[in-house]
Amino acid sequence: MDFTVRKFEERDAERVAEIMYESFKTVFKERWESEKKGNGDSYKKCVHNETPTSVTTAFVAEQEGKVIGFLHIDANLHRKLGILHSIGVDPNVFARGVGKAMVAEAEKLWRKHRMRKIYTCTSHINQRALAFYKSLGFEEEGVLKSHFFDGIDEIQLGKFYKYEDQ
Ligand SMILES: CC(C)(COP(=O)(O)OP(=O)(O)OC[C@H]1O[C@@H](n2cnc3c(N)ncnc32)[C@H](O)[C@@H]1OP(=O)(O)O)[C@@H](O)C(=O)NCCC(=O)NCCS
Repeated sequence: MDFTVRKFEERDAERVAEIMYESFKTVFKERWESEKKGNGDSYKKCVHNETPTSVTTAFVAEQEGKVIGFLHIDANLHRKLGILHSIGVDPNVFARGVGKAMVAEAEKLWRKHRMRKIYTCTSHINQRALAFYKSLGFEEEGVLKSHFFDGIDEIQLGKFYKYEDQ
């Protein structure tokens, strides 16, 4: 499938809100009905920003001018810890390499800044995401019980980087 990955821009925010709503609905189903899709304003904070101690950025995947995926990350330059905050792909194009391609862009940035470790978490019912993260080299590290919803645990996942000159 032909698509490109580029930096997220404010103009993408409304479409990103739609993708995140629809992609997470496939996981949380009826629990998601009460969630608000929103106009995307909350995603505008994900525009690239650098300080002496951190880099926050986001990527989108785009196919023929239409945004089909979103990934928001940061890099703590002091602790050398990267965080994958959120990722979502348009359900119409699940399992076609879009998520993997966006994480590949994030990994270029994390490695450029020589992160030691990348952290993320996902719900225990989200078998697709667990398989996705494990395919990318993340390993389970812990469990947060009934974290965002009663009865749904969050599985903490981490991935350590090695560098050739170490
Ligand atoms: C999880 C998610 C981001 C994955 O993105 P995607 O574009 O569908 O995944 P990719 O096609 O890049 O898959 C990469 C690898 O993950 C694994 N994978 C992906 N979907 C899978 C599935 N349904 N079952 C098993 N493995 C799967 C495969 O190993 C795959 O590699 P392969 O195609 O070479 O076999 C996407 O499904 C999504 O948006 N889900 C809803 C939102 C969400 O759960 N976000 C993450 C939780 S915080």
